[in-house]
Amino acid sequence: VGELDVDSLRGWIRDVPDFPSVGVLFRDVTPLLADADAFGRCIDALAAPWQGVGVELVCGIESRGFIFGAALAHRLEVGFMPLRKPGKLPPPLAEVEYALEYGRDRLQARAGTLAQGQRVLIVDDVLATGGTLAAAHELVARLGGATVGAGVVIELAALGGRARWPRGVPLHALLDY
Ligand code: PRP
Ligand code: MG
Repeated sequence: VGELDVDSLRGWIRDVPDFPSVGVLFRDVTPLLADADAFGRCIDALAAPWQGVGVELVCGIESRGFIFGAALAHRLEVGFMPLRKPGKLPPPLAEVEYALEYGRDRLQARAGTLAQGQRVLIVDDVLATGGTLAAAHELVARLGGATVGAGVVIELAALGGRARWPRGVPLHALLDY
């Protein structure tokens, strides 16, 4: 997938000012999902950096990370594990608590799914402040997995989230905003 193809995906992302609160510019990916060609090219582009690096499992972050992560797992012909918001998964669980702009949140995953050292790719739709993606990395580590990298569709570069991602672990974003 060439750079030009990836950049053309911007045409399927809708900017919504003042959502979910005043002053926030929401990037709506639902038009991209609804277009078979654009969604397919998006998944191809997400997969490209990880061909031949031995990804064994994709972990997608609830909820928009499920959409891209599950499609990418299928594309890479590996399994999928959901990293969920609290209260959704039955025990046994592992969990990581992390800071939000206001307050705290937690991510949970099923304990016992990952083999020790299993090579995991973490997927989400958007990298914003980076708290969610960093928590996902910590959760995978707590479960004994080895994160080979992360893939996101959109990086809101001005928010500096990349600085919270472990140095030296590849993090690929398709589109910078
Ligand atoms: C959004 C987005 C990322 C996260 C990024 O999820 O989908 O998961 O925020 O933010 P951060 O980099 O500042 O941590 P959100 O929980 O708002 O909603 P969702 O359930 O629609 O994915
Ligand atoms: Mg999310």
